[in-house]
Amino acid sequence: MTLDINARRLLDRVEAFGGIGRDPGGGISRAGFGAADLEARERLHEEARLGGLDSAVDAAGNVIVRRPGRPGPADRPVLLIGSHLDTVANGGRLDGAYGVLAGLDVMQTLAEHRVELAREPVLVAFANEEGALFPQPFWGSKVLAGALDSLPADPRDHEGRSLRGPLARAGGDLAALGTAVWPAGSVAAYLELHVEQGPVLESGGHTIGVVDSITGRTQFAVEIRGAAGHAGTTPMELRRDPVTAAARVVLAAEEIARERRLCRVATVGWLEVQPNSANTIADGVRLTVDLRDSDPVNLELAEKALRTSLATLAHESNVSITVRVDARAAPVHTDPALRAAITASADELGLSHLVLPSGAGHDAQIVAGIAPIGMIFVPSAGGVSHVPEEDTADADLVAGARVLLRTVLRL
Ligand code: GLV
Ligand code: MN
Ligand code: MN
Repeated sequence: MTLDINARRLLDRVEAFGGIGRDPGGGISRAGFGAADLEARERLHEEARLGGLDSAVDAAGNVIVRRPGRPGPADRPVLLIGSHLDTVANGGRLDGAYGVLAGLDVMQTLAEHRVELAREPVLVAFANEEGALFPQPFWGSKVLAGALDSLPADPRDHEGRSLRGPLARAGGDLAALGTAVWPAGSVAAYLELHVEQGPVLESGGHTIGVVDSITGRTQFAVEIRGAAGHAGTTPMELRRDPVTAAARVVLAAEEIARERRLCRVATVGWLEVQPNSANTIADGVRLTVDLRDSDPVNLELAEKALRTSLATLAHESNVSITVRVDARAAPVHTDPALRAAITASADELGLSHLVLPSGAGHDAQIVAGIAPIGMIFVPSAGGVSHVPEEDTADADLVAGARVLLRTVLRL
């Protein structure tokens, strides 16, 4: 009999984790390092230990699951399997968690059958991939991959609170991040299984996606300062209204992608008005701009255009606008040998597959800085994600985990 994952165990875990951080409306809010995220991480430790695996936390807050008594990454290159447990605000139950739980099942299956591989499999649940509360997306993978220079020394959340305490509560240590960096050559290959989050596989009737590239992305924090005032008494010509300026910033970002086509997509998804009062002209607005493209040159052009527009808008609206880059992630290609291994595994299982790019960001693109990466997608119902309706058929969830197992066995 060929080795197989435990489909029931996987689906039960997906269901159980889907109850952690659930909003009244059915979405999942598990912001990285928030209370629900801590609960999910604890649950992962428990499940791993009950399954006979070792589970630990590194200084960055990444949860790392190993088979007991195996050599560490310094001694033997590992086959790293990963994704994340944190979510966006009011997101779905599969983005991230599915890949972690499928990886856990693969680890447990290998341990139960005492399978020895040329590369020791290790599972990682990366901390704060989304950056919902602390706007440092890819936090855990950036630390593991040694990209410490790209991270702030004292990361803060949207309200200015330090990451230090929440990271410590998760078992990490901001003062010891260097200990969470994996040495060069320690990862022989990295595999991530994820829901597609788009419509391509479903509309083409395919079960498995073989990812060939992951989009590049730059995320900006923009702060607009104007002058607060009375909504009834301040004449229009004397106003320095940051809300009207923000509206122009939103449209300028859209224009950069939609009309000027400098990058593939541009999104303002987070806005905060101070003091947010119906009869007061606001004194400040903060917002984020997310620019994405598969070509780094386009991302640079789009950034330049955004900065120029913001300078012009600040002048025209008589407000001040400051811009900070919260995250940069370069576009990357997956490894041809890993793509071939995923394809062969899908063929072996008789599953229809398609090569496609990822428009979403993934920890894999950060790990690509230190190791060859491969990504497996399964279909998303209706092509939607980062929303409560995010869903994938059970049969597809199981199929994806089987492809992951077969790919691990092949490497
Ligand atoms: C990560 O989930 C992203 O925003 O693509
Ligand atoms: Mn996501
Ligand atoms: Mn994800």
